[in-house]
Amino acid sequence: MTVAAMHPALAALARPDLFTGAAFIDGVWVASDKTFPVYEPSTATVLGTVSDMTRADFITAIQSAETGYRKFYASTTAHERGAMLRRWFDLIIANKEDIATILVLENGKTYAEGLGEVVYAASFVSWFAEEASRAYGDVIPSSMPNTTVLTLKQPVGVAGIITPWNFPAAMITRKIAPAFAAGCSVVIKPPSETPYTAAALIKLAVEAGIPPAIVQLVPTKDRDAATELCTNPLVKKISFTGSTNVGIHLSKLAMGTMKKISMELGGNAPFIVFEDGDIDLAVEGAMICKFRCSGQTCVCANRLLVHRSVAKEFTAKLAVAVAKLNVGAGLDPATTQGPLVNRAGVEKVKLHIKDAVSKGATLVTGGNIPANVNPNGFFVEPSILSGVTSDMLVANDETFGPLAPIFEFDTEEEAVALANSTEFGLAGYFFSRDVNRVLRVASALECGLVGANTGKISAAESPFGGVKQSGVGREGSMYGLAEYQIIKAVTIGNTSA
Ligand code: SIN
Repeated sequence: MTVAAMHPALAALARPDLFTGAAFIDGVWVASDKTFPVYEPSTATVLGTVSDMTRADFITAIQSAETGYRKFYASTTAHERGAMLRRWFDLIIANKEDIATILVLENGKTYAEGLGEVVYAASFVSWFAEEASRAYGDVIPSSMPNTTVLTLKQPVGVAGIITPWNFPAAMITRKIAPAFAAGCSVVIKPPSETPYTAAALIKLAVEAGIPPAIVQLVPTKDRDAATELCTNPLVKKISFTGSTNVGIHLSKLAMGTMKKISMELGGNAPFIVFEDGDIDLAVEGAMICKFRCSGQTCVCANRLLVHRSVAKEFTAKLAVAVAKLNVGAGLDPATTQGPLVNRAGVEKVKLHIKDAVSKGATLVTGGNIPANVNPNGFFVEPSILSGVTSDMLVANDETFGPLAPIFEFDTEEEAVALANSTEFGLAGYFFSRDVNRVLRVASALECGLVGANTGKISAAESPFGGVKQSGVGREGSMYGLAEYQIIKAVTIGNTSA
């Protein structure tokens, strides 16, 4: 593809070379004759074509990563690995506008969100640049005479990284920055909807001095080829973000060779507004955690549970805030709500609305294709349903779109029971001014992340991950490094001999 054939925003990049559909295997950018198209969600036109790599390519990448990680770990100190990450952080920030443009074109989110995501992605790199030096072991008093027990934290080895399209930058860095900090190498299968952002980040990682063999990028549309990551015995770790069904499937494959796993899977987040909550703050929180990324985040509020006495007020105020959203193409500066990533996403929102209305819910606002957008784009209006009940699809299935379904409750016990009545347990939110209730409900919610009086819970320093069928493991934070390490106990006997 020539620059002339590119989207004008790509041709205007300060670094057009950051936009590539090639794979990065064994230190070389390689293009395959077989490609798959990547679509721009706001127009449904092809943004570009990306190399569709094979199982053999995964095997080559894994072998190179295996040799690479041994050299990398043996030849670098934790401080040097931290310095490499710091240089990568600087390059990401220096190129943040270009990366955001690429990200917005392939994902659809607004430019403000895209830029915000790139900075969020970079925050994991700077966080783990510092954590690299904190891979402390222990000295353990031994129960045996003349003996000392030490623990060493060592890299797990080659890590297979499978990332989602909703955060094309941040979900890569949240996984691979701790991997590098620990001394691991990675083989990344980027999402086929948004592979270009991954390639831009990897280019910058190599420019930052991260050894090429440590970072292998293998785009593919062939799911079977990608499962090589989960079955190849040289791969010691799988980190996946995506749906619960796929996560369970990959975990079973990975267990065939006892790999360490981190699974960040689906959610069905409750968002509770108690009668003593600040309603304006709750509306603000709902706008953030329901409509961020057009409702396509794993931590999105999926069920808004509102105390019956404040439901009318909350619904009316939320409808006013939603009416202010301006739906359009992500690169249009006037846009505050982008399209969904694909047609299937739009159909799911429509299905959830249709099902709820057929069972007695009221569509307060939305539900249509917005006016003044490209009719081919994957758009749907931000929508609110009231009078939602547990028998409706939206109660049990993650919508992954801009639909806010409002349920009503009468007591705290009922709200907590409703909130926990799901097999998922990623995020949960609630609004209350009562400090005792804040502590009580935070502890009662069955999820890995709680937002009390806020809809904003994601940050590099905060452990991210779920319970129940939302997954295992924690990303970011002081716990994220351990996901890429093994603990080795070293017992030194006869120390007085
Ligand atoms: C996700 O949706 O998987 C990640 C969201 C976040 O990091 O806030």
